[in-house]
Amino acid sequence: MEIIIQPDSREASRLAAKIVAGLVREKPHAVLGFATGQTPIELYRYLVEMHRNERLDFSEVTAFNLDEYVGLEPGHPASYHSYMRENLFDRINIRKDRVNIPFGLADDIPTCCRSYEERIHADGGIDLQILGIGADGHLGFNEPSSSLASRTRIKTLTDRTRKDNAAAFGGEDKVPHHVITMGLGTIMDCRTCLLLAFGRKKARAVAQAAEGPLTAMVPASILQMHQRAIFLLDEEAASQLTRTYYYKWVYENKPDWQKY
Ligand code: PGA
Repeated sequence: MEIIIQPDSREASRLAAKIVAGLVREKPHAVLGFATGQTPIELYRYLVEMHRNERLDFSEVTAFNLDEYVGLEPGHPASYHSYMRENLFDRINIRKDRVNIPFGLADDIPTCCRSYEERIHADGGIDLQILGIGADGHLGFNEPSSSLASRTRIKTLTDRTRKDNAAAFGGEDKVPHHVITMGLGTIMDCRTCLLLAFGRKKARAVAQAAEGPLTAMVPASILQMHQRAIFLLDEEAASQLTRTYYYKWVYENKPDWQKY
């Protein structure tokens, strides 16, 4: 587990964009896993900027999103289909037929989830998965008590997550209860996991996930078992970690060949 602490979310997002761009340049047909929510918006802005100003080419990239609400039309303004179009996909040259987001209106959700897993597998697996973290430690929409080996499936949101996501819907009562999410086992199969967390609100979950015991009650703690998990944090999100000095020293003293 690598913990990188940057002065603020701008610097952290810039570094995240550099990591993603580095992969896309090295492997133009990379399979990228995308996340939604407030956290990655700045990262997506940098990727759009790099596409426009530095010709970062997404034409051969395949995308898989972590999750989607059940019952929302892809065109619903609060759907993650809309979010991804607005923040990234309509602003870069990714091919629409290479974009995969769980379909929240599927009649047969278990079959839809199985075929999502099969598509990831058929495309060679996810090279790099971008992740946020919930204030309750959730990863994707894998809420506390999720199986640490879970695959893509339907989940029920906690009241806390519905409250946290209420703004996009104009009220908590309008937030769906059900979602389709990649499982923790699905996320663990990704070659690299890049978790971003900003702000004091995330500090406790970050500390529990990185330094606490591995437990289904903090789903993000499963990343302690991942071979290549990077936590990219701002100072506030890192504020409850106990080994901050060590993480900073490690990052600042990386040999050149290990630097991003
Ligand atoms: P946020 O959500 O980026 O909107 O804080 C993160 C998450 O719930 O995983």
